[in-house]
Amino acid sequence: MAITVRDSKFILKTDNTAWILRIAEGYLESLYYGADVPDCDLEYLVNTQILNFAPYDADLGLKYIYGARLYLYSGANSGDFRTPACDVVDQNGYTGCRFSYAGYEILPETPADFAMPKIRGGGETLKILLTDRDKKIDAELYFQPAEDCDAFVRYARIVNRSGGVVSLKKAASLQLDFDNGRFDLLSVAGAPGDEMRNLRRPVTQGKAEISSRFGVTGHSANPFFALCAPSATEDAGECYGFNLLYSGNFKNEIECDCHGCVRVVSGISDENFFWTLKDGDSFYTPQAVCVFSEEGIGGMSRRFHRLCREHVIPPRYKDTRPVVANTWESFYFTVDEDKVRAFAKKAKEIGADTVVLDDGWFRNEDNENLGDWEPDSRRFPSGLGKLVEAVKAEGLNFGLWFEPEMISRRSKLFKAHPEWLLQNGDKGSESRNQYVLDMANPAVVDHVFGVMAAYLSRYDISYVKWDMNRYLSEVGSGCLSNQGEASHRYALGVYALLERITEEFGVLVEGCAGGGGRFDLGMLYYEPMIWLSDNTDPYNRTEIQFGAATAYPPCALSYHFSKGEGTSGKPSGPYFRMLAANFACFGYELDLTKLSGEEIAACRAFTEKRRSYDKYVLGGDFYKLDADGKYYYACLQVLKDRSAALLTFIQVDAQIRYESLVLRLKGLKSDARYKVGESGLVLYGRTLEKAGVRISDLLCPHWKEEDPSRIALKAGKAGSGIAFEIVEVKD
Ligand code: GLA
Repeated sequence: MAITVRDSKFILKTDNTAWILRIAEGYLESLYYGADVPDCDLEYLVNTQILNFAPYDADLGLKYIYGARLYLYSGANSGDFRTPACDVVDQNGYTGCRFSYAGYEILPETPADFAMPKIRGGGETLKILLTDRDKKIDAELYFQPAEDCDAFVRYARIVNRSGGVVSLKKAASLQLDFDNGRFDLLSVAGAPGDEMRNLRRPVTQGKAEISSRFGVTGHSANPFFALCAPSATEDAGECYGFNLLYSGNFKNEIECDCHGCVRVVSGISDENFFWTLKDGDSFYTPQAVCVFSEEGIGGMSRRFHRLCREHVIPPRYKDTRPVVANTWESFYFTVDEDKVRAFAKKAKEIGADTVVLDDGWFRNEDNENLGDWEPDSRRFPSGLGKLVEAVKAEGLNFGLWFEPEMISRRSKLFKAHPEWLLQNGDKGSESRNQYVLDMANPAVVDHVFGVMAAYLSRYDISYVKWDMNRYLSEVGSGCLSNQGEASHRYALGVYALLERITEEFGVLVEGCAGGGGRFDLGMLYYEPMIWLSDNTDPYNRTEIQFGAATAYPPCALSYHFSKGEGTSGKPSGPYFRMLAANFACFGYELDLTKLSGEEIAACRAFTEKRRSYDKYVLGGDFYKLDADGKYYYACLQVLKDRSAALLTFIQVDAQIRYESLVLRLKGLKSDARYKVGESGLVLYGRTLEKAGVRISDLLCPHWKEEDPSRIALKAGKAGSGIAFEIVEVKD
């Protein structure tokens, strides 16, 4: 049973973890969260120490000191000085709240009125009712175990029963307190073109914050973070991972108080957030998800990967992704009808299945026409209809780029509806020559839907690249009286639009925000893959992908083989560039019409080979193999039944000792025998795990350098690498 209620305790279990909550003196507390344990009676763990200077319950006295307890949802200004999860301004203008236990219910599934991205296929949900008895404000806490992923989904609903109007200043999705926890904080940080770097630092007294005020998740931070034992490695040690199914401003607070208690509070950012609740109104927070692993950071990553694959991305894309040929880095703004026709012919030859017409189809440069969405008559004189037909006639699908949330000053829409801009009374700032539409306004959402629907219903378009090339600044909405609601209502408007577009037209939406500026589980709920970065340099991209894979599965990372004249300044041959696609969804983004016959053949061979690897990329368990990040990256993608795996080794720098590197494999069946690439070796899984394989000497010398059919290069120099399968041999 995933949820058991016994003796004033709630016992929540997943396959390998347990979370035990208790009701004590009328308050809800967390007793234990971590690896599954056979006992539930863990009262002896409760901290009864008397803390100096600490407020206590006026009726219970010193035996109930707020600051010593482990809570699930603390109110502000209430005697617990740690970071609160919730803050309310009541009808008399007083701030703060304190919640006590008021009952529970077990629901068969997520409540039907929860209208944001959610964990799919979730079963039973424990709803615990907390209430502030004086203010008559409820906090319903939801706990949903995702057993197969060792994950718990958490969210809250705040209900105003006060008889008057109250304002929510803060409403987190999740709070989790650890007694005396010693942790390292792992997060991902970056910049446009340099996304998803992994950062690790000790949690010390004080507060760390990982947040966004960009209006979207942003390039520089991501809602994912983890608390791991200081000794935890990729393969061993305890690790708690957290993430949000949310794409707007978020705030993760990790605070260690003077007694060593570590509190995590995660949810919508409370900056510029102020939500009006009339009597009877309620507010759902987005869903947060936490996983626990005893198998190190890698174990946590694999649990998140499974969760994302099985319970977040739209189920229809579980086993399939298109191979895309995209016009952007191929032609930029010089794209035209003839070029796309010629491009499509070559796309067919290399084995792609979808041609995506990127930016440039409705404008000449990036300072005009966003919002109007009319084909540029100079370069697409006959509109898009004939072109879509021509691409379809090649046996290819057609994809179209939109930036639905944006508007150019130089557009008809700007003239017709200046009031549709996101604005806060200021003149507003430009960014990338454009402004943001007020998606908090349902009339704007309807309008954008209408414009996109006109294309999607008229033409045979099966793919939309949904871009978003600037952050939100001067946030406010002409249709709201309370501007503290604008940011979140913007995110809700985007979700509503995505919901309608994907449901009504069944199109695959690839996410993008100037690269990885909006990479999160909220978007992945609608978009099975997201363009991870505008940096397609294979040296840089490999690092970005490895960083992203700490939190997100390879099947969610979109990467295209490009010209390779990248920011690293290092030369990269075509096969090296292809290797990076072995742990991401791949496509092509270079002028295919300029490729020689030999290069086309090499691309075709690669497409075929890479398609045969789909089973590893889309469904495999991902293991980082001793990736030192300085000289090489190596990973193994192991099928669920562990009967086969794909090893990808990418050398990004040279050092003489790495020429004869031995890699130890992971995740195989110890007692099964495996054929190792084309080396002629057949070895037990245990041997491969303990003794490993010697990459260069064993596997490379007899392979011709830059042999397209094998996708291998002689390892040992920067810009080299190898990929091969390890397949179980049955006697
Ligand atoms: C962003 C995207 C690119 C491309 C351009 C078009 O930068 O990340 O892939 O679509 O916009 O303007």
